[in-house]
Amino acid sequence: MELVKSLGAHWVIDYTKEDFTRKKGSYEIIFDTVGKSSFSKSKASLKKNGRYLTSTGKMMKNYFLTIWTSLMARRKFIFAMSVDKVESLNLLKKLAEAGIIKPIIDRTYPLEEMVEAHRYVEMGHKKGNVVIRVN
Ligand SMILES: NC(=O)c1ccc[n+]([C@@H]2O[C@H](COP(=O)([O-])OP(=O)(O)OC[C@H]3O[C@@H](n4cnc5c(N)ncnc54)[C@H](OP(=O)(O)O)[C@@H]3O)[C@@H](O)[C@H]2O)c1
Repeated sequence: MELVKSLGAHWVIDYTKEDFTRKKGSYEIIFDTVGKSSFSKSKASLKKNGRYLTSTGKMMKNYFLTIWTSLMARRKFIFAMSVDKVESLNLLKKLAEAGIIKPIIDRTYPLEEMVEAHRYVEMGHKKGNVVIRVN
């Protein structure tokens, strides 16, 4: 929670103590960055023209929800996937160097310890990113 506050959050909900979906019509935007919620369970918590953003989930379902909500619903579903493009990585590099985005690095492993790195990530509690050092 302290980490999230250090990124600029004014108010933090502890998911182990409170289910954010119980507050109906409360949020303008819900952005699920870890894939632990669903649009169906969260939409009632959005304000009338609210947006549910995600970067996870099944592609076909995401496309369907994007199209369906854009045509039929006030509360919209929006998703985005990262792309393995050099320009995108260079843009991220520039934004990080300019301090516009603040990457959070939890742990760094050398390439030889890839197995340990995966084990750590698969525990599902990493804070931000785990980096593999290749050189
Ligand atoms: N769109 C894309 O291009 C893209 C790219 C990369 C990854 N992804 C997807 O993004 C998802 C997240 O991946 P990840 O590996 O970064 O994260 P992760 O390791 O699954 O998430 C770890 C973090 O999530 C928190 N967390 C766990 N359960 C939570 C809950 N119910 N509510 C709120 N926070 C919770 C943990 O906090 P605690 O330690 O306090 O429990 C920890 O900080 C995956 O589904 C992955 O497939 C998408």
